[in-house]
Amino acid sequence: MRADGFEGLPGTVEELRALQLERLRRSLLHAYTRVPHYREAFDRAGVHPEDCRSLADLARFPFTTKDDLRAHYPFGMFAVPREQVRRIHASSGTTGQPTVVGYTDRDLETWAEVVARSLRLAGARSGQIVHVAYGYGLFTGGLGAHYGAERLGCTVVPASGGMTDRQVRLIQDFRPEVVMVTPSYMLTLIDEMERQGIDPRSTSLRTGVFGAEPWTEEMRREIEERLGIDAVDIYGLSEVIGPGVAQEAVGTKDGLHLWEDHFLPEIVDPFTGEVLPDGEPGELVLTSLTKEAMPVVRYRTRDLTRLLPGTALPPFRRMEKVTGRSDDMIILRGVNLYPTQIEEILLRTPAVAPHFQLRLTREGRMDALTVRAEARPGAGAADREEAAAAVARAVKEGVGVSVGVEIVDPHTLERSIGKIKRIVDLRD
Ligand code: DLL
Repeated sequence: MRADGFEGLPGTVEELRALQLERLRRSLLHAYTRVPHYREAFDRAGVHPEDCRSLADLARFPFTTKDDLRAHYPFGMFAVPREQVRRIHASSGTTGQPTVVGYTDRDLETWAEVVARSLRLAGARSGQIVHVAYGYGLFTGGLGAHYGAERLGCTVVPASGGMTDRQVRLIQDFRPEVVMVTPSYMLTLIDEMERQGIDPRSTSLRTGVFGAEPWTEEMRREIEERLGIDAVDIYGLSEVIGPGVAQEAVGTKDGLHLWEDHFLPEIVDPFTGEVLPDGEPGELVLTSLTKEAMPVVRYRTRDLTRLLPGTALPPFRRMEKVTGRSDDMIILRGVNLYPTQIEEILLRTPAVAPHFQLRLTREGRMDALTVRAEARPGAGAADREEAAAAVARAVKEGVGVSVGVEIVDPHTLERSIGKIKRIVDLRD
């Protein structure tokens, strides 16, 4: 029996694995009998849910990709009659057909429960005020955070994204202890506080639960210092449920504990699909264990991380902070580069603010990358020149490729109000 505020969760690895196997078998059967896509895919791969006798057997089952979900737009992946689907969310679909996800009443319960747990692990407590500045709507951030915070017994301020000056006003007036927002929008909010003459360290905020985009240890330090809070990471994706798939503990800040009783993680080689042992870096693949409306089997997240043993909450394993999505990888003259690598370097450079864009252009037959970053207010011309040279040098040494660096005036790059888009592709 656990006595750490997480009573009711499996306390030993044996208990957890037994629960996972039982749920996995049930979930595979649910997907196979109710969703034509899974039936066809399993049949094609020559596997049947009954073949899953151990957790390792999952590797025999086919992967599911975003394209599979798109091909069955809008409701073709649902495993229950539409009348039992209580809520729909969807990805923005800026890169094509949107992906639609659905939840039964019980799925919504599960979601609220995993976000409530996540908040508790983040250090939030019942009775606190939680300011939610993730966008509300089809995006899962706002409503996902909202119902989880209510479930924990908090008072929720559903601010959603945007109207930044009003957000600051609400934080001043309502005095929340907890803020839930993308890290990039948190920076926008901090800038706005300063613009209004408010010392960010003087606010009521104590805990920030940041996710929906990759962010680095350097960004954690920046936000913690400027805002005087504990900043922890929350991970999730709509296809699997939304925020609350994994959460970092405030006491350890060492990666995110996966809620493995609901979502079974694997790490695979992104190219071959081969399952890799714990500790090896690769692509995160998730299988839902309890979802009713839209079970997912071996969903390819494209997110790069690795699995580590539990620290704050064994036997639950951790995933390392996501370094990036394989989709966001820039291949520059044969060298792989992720926006987070640039973020780390920029934030270690004193005259540079944490606002940047990566601009891709084509020069002849070669791709070129220019890092455009803002100067910190007060940085003079000489500081900027020195910073540009230092960044270019650090990228060359650390990543192994030459990039251009432009340091622009403070407050000139577009600010994030949600998920930030770092890459500006100007090729063709
Ligand atoms: O972003 C769900 C969410 C909302 C998570 C609020 C956390 C907080 P999607 O819009 O479906 O769902 O985008 C999912 O965002 O596959 C990752 O690439 C990225 N992502 C989410 N959380 C993190 C994180 C929500 N903590 C996609 N670190 C995922 C890095 C993250 N990337």
